[in-house]
Amino acid sequence: MSKMPAVYYYDEHPPEADFYAEVIDGLKHRPRRISPKFFYDERGSELFDAICRTEEYYPTRTEQALLQQHAGEIAGLIGERCLLIEPGSGNSEKVRLLLDVLHPSAYLPMDISRDFLYQAADQVAQEYPWLEVHAACVDFTAPLSLPYCPPATRKLIFFPGSSIGNFEPEQAEVFLRNLTSVAGAQGSLLIGVDLKKDPAILNAAYNDRAGVTAAFNLNLLHRIRRELDAELDPGLFEHDAWYNDTLGRVEMHLVSQQAQQLKIDGQLFEFDKDETIHTESSYKYTVEEFIDLAGRAGFTSRQVWTDPDNLFSLHYFDVGD
Ligand SMILES: C[S@@+](CC[C@H](N)C(=O)[O-])C[C@H]1O[C@@H](n2cnc3c(N)ncnc32)[C@H](O)[C@@H]1O
Repeated sequence: MSKMPAVYYYDEHPPEADFYAEVIDGLKHRPRRISPKFFYDERGSELFDAICRTEEYYPTRTEQALLQQHAGEIAGLIGERCLLIEPGSGNSEKVRLLLDVLHPSAYLPMDISRDFLYQAADQVAQEYPWLEVHAACVDFTAPLSLPYCPPATRKLIFFPGSSIGNFEPEQAEVFLRNLTSVAGAQGSLLIGVDLKKDPAILNAAYNDRAGVTAAFNLNLLHRIRRELDAELDPGLFEHDAWYNDTLGRVEMHLVSQQAQQLKIDGQLFEFDKDETIHTESSYKYTVEEFIDLAGRAGFTSRQVWTDPDNLFSLHYFDVGD
């Protein structure tokens, strides 16, 4: 008799009031800013998937090739029947490259984009009927705790997609330290980190010719208009992204095309022409810089894999010494 897929759902999605409060706060701030976590409503998640398929966006295919190539070694490092935890799991596409090799005791995808997460979890459970799936809708910028913890020999946290680059470096250290306590003393971290490289490659990756990244960035304004009943015209803003060499990060902005006013819940925000809202930073690290950062958070490097063109790195860390 074949086993029925087992999938469990945990909903700790932040309340709508947080979105409102953070948008108002960010628009009052100078320079204006809104956290990238708000990109990810269902449409935002779909657009992110479409970005991954653009010719210019090398990180996804490069990281997938590294995972495919080194899955056996990764299994050797973590051993059998680990508890596999994936914050920011999105479509759970990359984890499929590990499941058959790792044979984890359970898979815990965690994401802020609830419907998208639940659909992805259902799909994984259908495809891997032997696997217990626990899908948790959470905001991982808040202290992360596991909703449920089935018994396992060890925990492996899988954090692909260079999502660590979206944290300011000091916040990345705090987040990684939090992951050490989630993983526990015997735990490990498998993390994908985008490398510093020729700015022309980075600028192309965040400004694809088909305009998918632009649509992803502008979707934030559509979401604000729809969910916060804002008076604003997304058509009066344009996407812009560039590599800031001094800070080692790609910055993504929404640029006001003219002097204009936005209104949210009776509050007015006056924009000058060319004034921007900073919507995302994607920090890039050399292998050594990232090992130092993770080391300060309490992780010890065990293995690093990079592709032949030095575009992307995949790190395996253990907690502690
Ligand atoms: C850059 S995408 C990476 C997706 C996938 N891990 C990959 O490698 O292709 C970031 C993912 O993290 C999720 N995410 C972003 N901010 C989050 C937050 N604060 N808490 C939980 N999930 C978040 C998004 O919904 C999205 O699925």
